[in-house]
Amino acid sequence: MEKRGVCQFLLDHATRAPISFHMPGHKGEAIYRGNGYGRFLDQMMDCDITEIPGADNLFQTEGIIKETMERYAKLYEAKESYLLINGSSAGLIAAILTCAPAGGEIIMARNCHKSIFNGVSLAGAEPVYAYPQLIADYGISGEITADEITRCLSEHPGSSAVILPSPNYYGVCSDIKAIAQLVHDAGKILIVDQAHGAHLKFFDSYIEGRTKAAENLGADIVIDSVHKTLASYTQSAIVNLCSDKVDKYEFEDKLQLIESTSPSYLLMASLDINADLLERKGKDLIWQWEENLQYFYRRAAEIEGLRVMDHPLLDHTKINLDMSACGIDGLHLEELLMKQGIFVELVTGNIVMCMTGIGNKRYDFDRLLSALREIASNRQITINSAPAKQPLTQKKLAQKPLPRQKERIKLKEAAGRVCASSIIPYPPGIPIICPGEIIDQEILNYVRELREKGEKVIGIDDQDRVVVGKERV
Ligand SMILES: Cc1ncc(COP(=O)(O)O)c(C=O)c1O
Repeated sequence: MEKRGVCQFLLDHATRAPISFHMPGHKGEAIYRGNGYGRFLDQMMDCDITEIPGADNLFQTEGIIKETMERYAKLYEAKESYLLINGSSAGLIAAILTCAPAGGEIIMARNCHKSIFNGVSLAGAEPVYAYPQLIADYGISGEITADEITRCLSEHPGSSAVILPSPNYYGVCSDIKAIAQLVHDAGKILIVDQAHGAHLKFFDSYIEGRTKAAENLGADIVIDSVHKTLASYTQSAIVNLCSDKVDKYEFEDKLQLIESTSPSYLLMASLDINADLLERKGKDLIWQWEENLQYFYRRAAEIEGLRVMDHPLLDHTKINLDMSACGIDGLHLEELLMKQGIFVELVTGNIVMCMTGIGNKRYDFDRLLSALREIASNRQITINSAPAKQPLTQKKLAQKPLPRQKERIKLKEAAGRVCASSIIPYPPGIPIICPGEIIDQEILNYVRELREKGEKVIGIDDQDRVVVGKERV
């Protein structure tokens, strides 16, 4: 195969003028150039500096970085906001290290992102799993209900905190208001992984009837991947502390433990630019986005053979498409869209998730609509579509204490052994099996199927081995 390297790949990709329905949310340079930041793009190399005098310090903020943090605190009405240059992953890990003492229990959604599993493991805490609902019709994880949190809290009264994603990768939110009430009544801390919902605060502010942002609903710590849906660069994110329940000095201490000591000024500048865009043009940008979404959903409903997911708790900026009625599964649909220059975020079973962002233009939605129309018109609609597969993150597996002694064995021989290192389909980055869970044949079959389809599965080495506990169950 011809060797290209990262740089050449990116240049080749950009030359195709692709339509992006994946992260990041800025979708290219237009949103910067069109809003007064062309000079920043032109001088990007010169702006890539370090902590020279006057440039402040991310871990002892007194000047320009503090100003940007204060802008975010104001935008999100938070007590404190912190800039992250290692993604939401860093904020999530720092939040867990702050709230979950070693050996103590933390209640976490079983469909959490792998960074949360990593945080719990680094903290030396014991995970207690809250299981999400299943959206059976589409075969994907849904909300974490308040009842499920009640169950976990009553079975594990000694736990210190609750952490869950809202929205999840498919855009399904949980009832954060009800959950916050329960968590606070039990004297614990609620951490919301809002990596996929940095924009929600602004939809809540500008569009009547929207109340989905965890910052507005009583969460104590909220982590937002600004890069995923808003206008900053990949890997830039923020943490909002929204109550006095968390010791901010303790949190700051944990954050500096895990973030790079050479924070990128380009990432921080892009967070600053994003804050400026939201302050100056937030209402217009959010309304354009909303109108484009309404335009898309109305027209997509007319395409025979296409199902677009609707759900009362859905953040509709995530568009979940299903063309199984035309006999097209998710991977095939992704391929057909790619042939038309459209790149999506995620495929699960029959679902293709298109992740819209603040930078998407009407033209992008039109291109997606015409591609879908063409795909549908080339296919016969079949009565019995392929049934959606239940994601295995739903599966309640038997659990054992985390293995102390570990070994690597062939994946195909791992049934019945205790998992010692997560196996993670990526995306969505949610472990299919976590340390302490007992691997079974169904898991092995599922992983084999994913790999046969060419999907990425992390946690299996180049000799097809996985890490398990040495001791047999
Ligand atoms: C649900 C969820 N939480 C957290 C993260 C981590 O966010 P980041 O990429 O900003 O580190 C991701 C990444 O995709 C995610 O999907």
